[in-house]
Amino acid sequence: MEYRRMGKSGLQLSVLSYGSWVTFHKQIDDTIADELMGIAYDYGVNFFDNAEVYARGESERLMGRVLKKKNWDRTSYTVSSKAYFGSRGPENKPNQTGLSRKHLVEACHEALQRLQVEYLDIYFCHRPDKNVPIEEVVWTMNHLIQQGKILYWGTSEWSGVEIMEAHRAAADYRLIGPVVEQPQYNLLERQKLEKEYLMIFKTVGMGTTIWSPLASGLLTGKYNDGIPEGSRLGLEGFEWLKDQWMMEDKLAKVRELTSFAQELGMSLATLSIAWTIKNPNVTTAILGATRKEQLLENLKALEVAEKLTPDVLQRIDEIIQTKPLLPAY
Ligand SMILES: NC(=O)c1ccc[n+]([C@@H]2O[C@H](COP(=O)([O-])OP(=O)(O)OC[C@H]3O[C@@H](n4cnc5c(N)ncnc54)[C@H](OP(=O)(O)O)[C@@H]3O)[C@@H](O)[C@H]2O)c1
Repeated sequence: MEYRRMGKSGLQLSVLSYGSWVTFHKQIDDTIADELMGIAYDYGVNFFDNAEVYARGESERLMGRVLKKKNWDRTSYTVSSKAYFGSRGPENKPNQTGLSRKHLVEACHEALQRLQVEYLDIYFCHRPDKNVPIEEVVWTMNHLIQQGKILYWGTSEWSGVEIMEAHRAAADYRLIGPVVEQPQYNLLERQKLEKEYLMIFKTVGMGTTIWSPLASGLLTGKYNDGIPEGSRLGLEGFEWLKDQWMMEDKLAKVRELTSFAQELGMSLATLSIAWTIKNPNVTTAILGATRKEQLLENLKALEVAEKLTPDVLQRIDEIIQTKPLLPAY
């Protein structure tokens, strides 16, 4: 395993990590989660990602049960949660969502209980909240750090401007600003990481824990000829995700990329994950997996990354045609 420093912070994260969105509770139970987290940990994965909203808190409860049973040295891994969407679904009342001091503190307490840990290594604001002053968010996160309930704080899917506003507020009060962002990043979604955040990487510095490296599975090629039984894009309640990804123009590119990966003697899944970690601004790519075979395959991305030479990367860009245009200056 390779470990990367999370931005300018001192935290070291494994370049491949493991998350629980969609999968924990909905698709996999305690036995499989135990097996998959065990495989990941044995491979050197030291970051497990979660959020209050995943399966309305059940994903954190499941991960908490596994962590308790594994009884790994708490200093050997990191675990996160994220607050914003709430954990009560349609029952969420006004103060049970968002980034107010009340919700950030209460969601943190709930996450600690569900995960059965004493502190979160990373606590994310799962989305920006225009109804809360940024000073309130920054002060609350610093308060939680002072209390030892969280160690680092970050953002997820914030704009570059919003992230810099948080840094401005933190600088005004000499507080700790966000040190990590969790954006989507994959071959089909590159704008934020490769364009919008470039200046932030250079100035204040920022780690990234990128999500959906396989575009929910599309970038494995498994959807090239339709939706296989039991796969994410066929799940009830995830029609919005299917509509987002099952588009002919995207599928056509993925089919061409599948052939290219075959030519190179690697799977499209490993090529796609390896491609994300070739970007030095990626601290860790969070993997998702419902089966042992998937996780074992995806972890091979580390070796595959070495085979992605500049020529190969250029050919990938020609096929996928998603590279953002950067200003010439
Ligand atoms: N901050 C945010 O807003 C946000 C949003 C989304 C995710 N995340 C985080 O990022 C993590 C990863 O995201 P993701 O789950 O969307 O990642 P992903 O890698 O894009 O998709 C993972 C899914 O693809 C399928 N898959 C994976 N490997 C495969 C393989 N080798 N062959 C065939 N199918 C394969 C599996 O689904 P099936 O078996 O069901 O097909 C698996 O659950 C999440 O768990 C979560 O922690 C964060």
